[in-house]
Amino acid sequence: MSNAALTEDDNVIEYLAAHEKKSMLRFITCGSVDDGKSTLIGRLLYDTKLLYDDQLAALESDTKKHGTQGEKIDFALLVDGLAAEREQGITIDVAYRFFSTEQRKFIVADTPGHEQYTRNMATGASTADLAVILIDARKGMLTQTRRHSYIASLLGIRHIVVAINKMDLADYSQDVFDNIETAYREFAAPLGFQTINCIPLSALEGDNILTKSTKTPWHRGAALLPYLETIDTSADQSDAPFRLPVQWVNRPNLDFRGFSGTIASGTVKPGDDIVVLPSAKRSKVTRVVTMDGDLDEAGIDQAVTLTLEDEIDISRGDIICAGRSPAEQTDQFAAHLLWMAEDKLFPGRQYLLKTANRIVPVTITDLKHKINVNTLEHMSGKTLELNEVGYCNFNLSHPIAFDAYKDNRRTGSFVLIDKRSNATIGAGMIDFSLRRADNVHWQNLDVNKTARATAKHQRPCVLWFTGLSGSGKSTVANLVEKRLHDLGRHTYTLDGDNVRHGLNKDLGFTDADRVENIRRVGETAKLMADAGLIVCVSFISPFQSERRMARDLLEEGEFIECYISTPLEVCEQRDVKGLYAKARRGEIKNFTGIDSPYEAPTAAEIDVDTSDISAADAADMIVKHLRDKGYLGA
Ligand code: ADX
Repeated sequence: MSNAALTEDDNVIEYLAAHEKKSMLRFITCGSVDDGKSTLIGRLLYDTKLLYDDQLAALESDTKKHGTQGEKIDFALLVDGLAAEREQGITIDVAYRFFSTEQRKFIVADTPGHEQYTRNMATGASTADLAVILIDARKGMLTQTRRHSYIASLLGIRHIVVAINKMDLADYSQDVFDNIETAYREFAAPLGFQTINCIPLSALEGDNILTKSTKTPWHRGAALLPYLETIDTSADQSDAPFRLPVQWVNRPNLDFRGFSGTIASGTVKPGDDIVVLPSAKRSKVTRVVTMDGDLDEAGIDQAVTLTLEDEIDISRGDIICAGRSPAEQTDQFAAHLLWMAEDKLFPGRQYLLKTANRIVPVTITDLKHKINVNTLEHMSGKTLELNEVGYCNFNLSHPIAFDAYKDNRRTGSFVLIDKRSNATIGAGMIDFSLRRADNVHWQNLDVNKTARATAKHQRPCVLWFTGLSGSGKSTVANLVEKRLHDLGRHTYTLDGDNVRHGLNKDLGFTDADRVENIRRVGETAKLMADAGLIVCVSFISPFQSERRMARDLLEEGEFIECYISTPLEVCEQRDVKGLYAKARRGEIKNFTGIDSPYEAPTAAEIDVDTSDISAADAADMIVKHLRDKGYLGA
């Protein structure tokens, strides 16, 4: 149906009604910068006659200005709508486009081909049923082809169309086509796609787009659009059981209490048994309410409000599940993670994990391996960099309800968020709950922190000394402990140089190792505070994130950050251990303040500069602070 038919009101209503019943195919297109992807999408939109006249006029005039195709319409201009793209000649973001034919509706996510933009592809792929992977017939399979195919498989896409494009520039040669098809099938075999269909194309000339081209009589399969119109992907989503992540509790008056959200999978109708997670309370659905009245049944993507037979407590963040097949719950799982940030991933650092309706603090406890997305090989590594994929163990601070990603793409996926910048830094696909999560419980001990502290007549706390090497941390910490000891207090000092000879012997000075160094020391300090001690911790601890984590491990008021803010010049001049000189000569790498960062505290409880006051005065000041705040007891 062309848009001309949309001018009359009656036809619009008829059109929309017919439209409603059509099935929907979501697909992504991926290819390298010059594979002709934008031309292909432009061609699909143009040839399905869903371009408006004014868009066409604009396209013709743009072609004259920017076009690369002489007098022919440059379809790529239609799609490469962003100004920056036109200037740089690359596509830089995901664009969703809608078009439809008599048979079907389509949403196409146009994803960038440029290497550093893999993350955008992941965004487009996470809801797609099918991926069209473009290959330039003259170039054959490239690194990008492998990368995009792997990410498509990782994100659960089951159907692939390999669009072997620019056949006009390869003399429509069957040999060229066959060789690429063979190579692709061999590469993709381990990725487990349900269907792979290869089509010879010329997006520019329109060969095998809408109808079969006479120039490729040897091609046995269908043209692209008829194939997209008929491929059956329904089996992929239909069997997932009912899940409704609760977005809000709808209670307009005392007589009505409903639970609202968008159905993530499955269907629901009045009378259905449900179970709510995490409480595991059970009930039955009484009504399925929508803006347009009650429904007999509702399904995926519909926004509904459910009312239940029983008065049970449900809050935002819970998931209402089919009674017979509830989601799992866990606080530890293994998952694939696609890293999307310029800053590296550090196992041990705390991030936020966001699922359909919850945000929970999380750490990656183990980066088990990285995946070379070009060769599919597993590699070992300590961090993930932009666009890398890793297989990791995750440890959450509270359990979440989830399904394995292979069973449910909505309730099996999550994103990671940076705590400070709030930016999305990773996308994850949950594999399975770690069984140790079920088998390790908290043991209650009769003698607790309060009992231990009372016996020592003191209030436990952690004095966390942070600052550059040579700033005077250890000297001041040592004096503070000595004074406290003389006052009969029970203390311990954890010092970087000492702990690195034992517990942290395996760690060096890369950012990743420092994160782990401080994570372990933070946990150790917490245990010592639990033992009722006053603990001095003296580590450079250069990152705000880990100092924050150490603070968060303790109770309110137990963490006292002592920033020894002696400036770099003074530390370097002192150079007690001769390390600055070595670092300047390039004999030590990653030296804090020289070629490794130090993030100064912004709200330390105590800030002293030992180039202003003596270590003894600094120690006195800190002990006074403890006494004034009541840590030293009577
Ligand atoms: S931290 O950054 O991970 O907190 P930590 O306090 O444990 O560092 O160790 C710092 C001590 O290690 C320094 O006082 C110094 O003696 C020694 N050291 C050796 N190499 C380095 C380096 N590259 N950067 C900083 N300190 C180093």
